[in-house]
Amino acid sequence: MVASRRLGPGATVLQADLDRPLEFADCEFDLIVCALVIHYLSDRRRALREFHRVLRPRGRAVISTQHTTADWLRKGGSYFDVVEETDEWERGGQSYPMRFWREPLTELCDAAADAGFVIEGFSSRSLPRRCVSGGRRPGRSSDAKRA
Ligand SMILES: C[S@@+](CC[C@H](N)C(=O)[O-])C[C@H]1O[C@@H](n2cnc3c(N)ncnc32)[C@H](O)[C@@H]1O
Repeated sequence: MVASRRLGPGATVLQADLDRPLEFADCEFDLIVCALVIHYLSDRRRALREFHRVLRPRGRAVISTQHTTADWLRKGGSYFDVVEETDEWERGGQSYPMRFWREPLTELCDAAADAGFVIEGFSSRSLPRRCVSGGRRPGRSSDAKRA
């Protein structure tokens, strides 16, 4: 597993499906880092509630997602649509459909707040030109603190 190789023997690496309840007790962690994963989950609200449940009070989550405006500019429709989209990713001369959820940033922020988080920091880089014209991995991130 790539993560085990990168982290070495000092770290325990477990695999989990974030579309299912986490098999951890309440208040087990100080920090959650969720990099560019949340927009693939069928129920982002449930995942955020699970993150909040397993964090200790005053624990933190650092979450990044695809750039919601770039996705809207690429896909069209209303920015406020909550819709499952498909991108085509190319690798080794083959094309693979990648499904993800496009939703306004306010949906994710509301879901985090409803789960019990306080959003402490927020960062959004400007849109690289390639993202507006069809590039595929713009980033947007926010830090949330468990209340
Ligand atoms: C764009 S990659 C990001 C990988 C890495 N975090 C990074 O920043 O480079 C998206 C990741 O989301 C993971 N993913 C998608 N659906 C998932 C799910 N239901 N549960 C857990 N991970 C999921 C995929 O396995 C993939 O590793």
